[in-house]
Amino acid sequence: MLYSEKVMDHLRNPRNVGEIEDADGIGEVGNAKCGDIMKMYLKIDAGIITDVKFKTFGCGSAIATSSIATEMIKGKSVVEALELTNKSVVEALDGLPSYKIHCSVLAEEAVKAAVKDYYDKNGISYNPKLFSALETSCCHEEGEC
Ligand code: FES
Repeated sequence: MLYSEKVMDHLRNPRNVGEIEDADGIGEVGNAKCGDIMKMYLKIDAGIITDVKFKTFGCGSAIATSSIATEMIKGKSVVEALELTNKSVVEALDGLPSYKIHCSVLAEEAVKAAVKDYYDKNGISYNPKLFSALETSCCHEEGEC
């Protein structure tokens, strides 16, 4: 089968879809390879991600990776969320076809962009290198790039 059962499960029944109106951090990223877009909303309390929602205008693999990424970071600290990689997301889904790996990058980048937004809004200092990957596939609001 092309997709693992976990991918199919998250595809058919994506978790945490939607938006958070009073989100503490919002990240929007675009996939340089295909132009698809993902938006991630974080609710953060004392550095802990208490709620997370996403919207993806993209393919099924992007939906499945965002869905599982939200499950992986909910209840974690923002520092732990920054450790999420597209590799760990793909592993958690029991793999993706190689030509779909680029779709998983959106999830990692959207989480990072949302945490960066939270840091920026709250005047929290950080090492810019943490977010260097965002600059290469950036589709942020105007003025950010
Ligand atoms: Fe664009 Fe998958 S084809 S994110």
